[in-house]
Amino acid sequence: MAYSCMRCSAGAGAGASAVRRGAAAMRAPAALSFVRCGLRRPAAAAAAKGVKAGMDAGVENPARSAAPSKVENGLPSEITLDDFEDLNPLSENDESTVTITVVGASGDLAKKKIFPALFALYYEDCLPKHFTIFGYARSKMTDDELRNMVSRTLTCRIDKRENCNEKMEEFLKRCFYHSGQYDSEEHFRDLDKKLKQHEGSSVSNRLFYLSIPPNIFLDVVKCASVSASSVNGWTRVIVEKPFGRDSDSSAALTRGLKQYLVEDQIFRIDHYLGKELVENLSVLRFSNLVFEPLWSRQYIRNVQLIFSEDFGTEGRGGYFDRYGIIRDIMQNHLLQILALFAMETPISLEAEDIRNEKVKVLRSMKPLQLDDVVIGQYKSHTKGGTTYPGYIDDKTVPNDSLTPTFAAAALFINNARWDGVPFLMKAGKALHTKGAEIRVQFRHVPGNLYKRSFGTDLDTATNELVIRVQPDEAIYLKINNKIPGLGMRLDRSKLNLHYAARYSKEIPDAYERLLLDAIEGERRLFIRSDELDAAWELFTPLLKELEEKRIAPELYPYGSRGPVGAHYLAAKYNVRWGDLTTEHKA
Ligand code: NDP
Ligand code: BG6
Repeated sequence: MAYSCMRCSAGAGAGASAVRRGAAAMRAPAALSFVRCGLRRPAAAAAAKGVKAGMDAGVENPARSAAPSKVENGLPSEITLDDFEDLNPLSENDESTVTITVVGASGDLAKKKIFPALFALYYEDCLPKHFTIFGYARSKMTDDELRNMVSRTLTCRIDKRENCNEKMEEFLKRCFYHSGQYDSEEHFRDLDKKLKQHEGSSVSNRLFYLSIPPNIFLDVVKCASVSASSVNGWTRVIVEKPFGRDSDSSAALTRGLKQYLVEDQIFRIDHYLGKELVENLSVLRFSNLVFEPLWSRQYIRNVQLIFSEDFGTEGRGGYFDRYGIIRDIMQNHLLQILALFAMETPISLEAEDIRNEKVKVLRSMKPLQLDDVVIGQYKSHTKGGTTYPGYIDDKTVPNDSLTPTFAAAALFINNARWDGVPFLMKAGKALHTKGAEIRVQFRHVPGNLYKRSFGTDLDTATNELVIRVQPDEAIYLKINNKIPGLGMRLDRSKLNLHYAARYSKEIPDAYERLLLDAIEGERRLFIRSDELDAAWELFTPLLKELEEKRIAPELYPYGSRGPVGAHYLAAKYNVRWGDLTTEHKA
């Protein structure tokens, strides 16, 4: 059976336009081989501008010593260069190559998300024909050890599960490892030599994924650009969050990155933008006449953006304590959703047009005020004989930590469309449930003829649109309906688009979409530096105030619904939080 990259039907517009634009902007005569719709065809590379620093042109001839290996017992070992060329045939002036270097390959994110996403893309025939994956980190590992590590994280989650093991083996043969320090130009030069062996004389396109702690981003970008950037194709860098801790550190990071890269080479990832239902937000709104006319203060009473996890910081306490939930979730994931939700109609679906509209929303917002924010921290709780640890029980967290693991906030957009409409955010760890959703509560029906049928609580009778981002993706609209019968009794029903029932296709992981976009040079779902600056401007004064005044978070038990203060905050704006659990599984 031939598998085909789903981009052909879904993303043709975006991907194709990226290629068109890339072709126009191309500086190097790069030709990137793409697989779309199951067909391997050359496409013009969206060649980013070359990095400022030079690189060692070094080794021209592939050395067999660094060649990949053969599959034995399910894992490749001792593959010769000839074998690799069979997998990845390259001839002089053939199509171009793409190498994805996962920097920090030994880490949690690489294992959990990046390698599995790359495999899923490979499985679906979405990766370019000549691709190679390199892991880079300080840990000592052979190629086989990397493959072994990666193989344990790969799953055949894709719906067409045929030939999965075979596909895994083929994929693993394309994975290699190079051990080195993050601040060593020499070690990156060694990496460059290995990359060249795989690239041959073709145009080489290189994507570096920085899956490392932020304090070493700049070291890596410097070394990679000086010693391992492409000389004749594009070089792109995916940067993981956090992008700084506040306006100043974020600006410093951007300045640092721009010493070595131009903006177009930087792909700041916010994986929430790659989630299926977030991607669908614009489709829902701009391609359905029934929604767009209602999308304003005239009809919308409030909007809620809710993120909830039913586990604590397990294993990531060290990182988390320096950032807290506001920086970890609100300033990026929830704010990005808000900007997409609230933006004006962009001129087109081109990345710059969308990002221009998003940044306008962010700039129209007023910075968060302390009295519009509630913070909490989870404490230990015993339930059913099991004791769940509190946040400060984590050994990597100081005993006196005031870092919030929960926050609720009210935000406002001061423009003609949204003036006065509260956008309420709530994000928390160690709560009673796991999920993420967007809730749009509509206004009351003026002069409602059926007012009496609703009793005194009219708020419960207003329409509500719920976009359940995860889990169990769904979009449903709550409406009032007559209960069948001779009397006139009303109830609330749902018009429900439940993805599992409607679509047989499995939903791709956000990292799959974003990695493919980065390879294709599609920037629509990545964060531009001015968006980032505007996002930090909203949160920095609040974060400083919380830290300077050492404001203590309200404690809430592990597994609870979070601090009661969140309800008072919502009540201040006549809002009742939607409940993730009571409506789950419509
Ligand atoms: P890890 O802490 O697992 O670090 C990744 C690798 O970086 C490690 O395997 C280690 O490799 C190296 N490393 C770790 N600490 C240091 C250090 N102090 N100095 C130098 N090298 C170090 O990170 P994650 O994989 O969890 O995350 C990677 C990036 O992605 C981070 O920026 C994180 O904030 C972000 N992120 C992570 C998410 C997750 O779920 N894990 C979710 C969203 C974003 P070695 O020792 O072999 O060199
Ligand atoms: C990351 C945060 O960005 O997103 C984590 O750093 C959080 O703290 C994660 O757990 C949630 O992502 P998802 O896709 O599992 O909802």
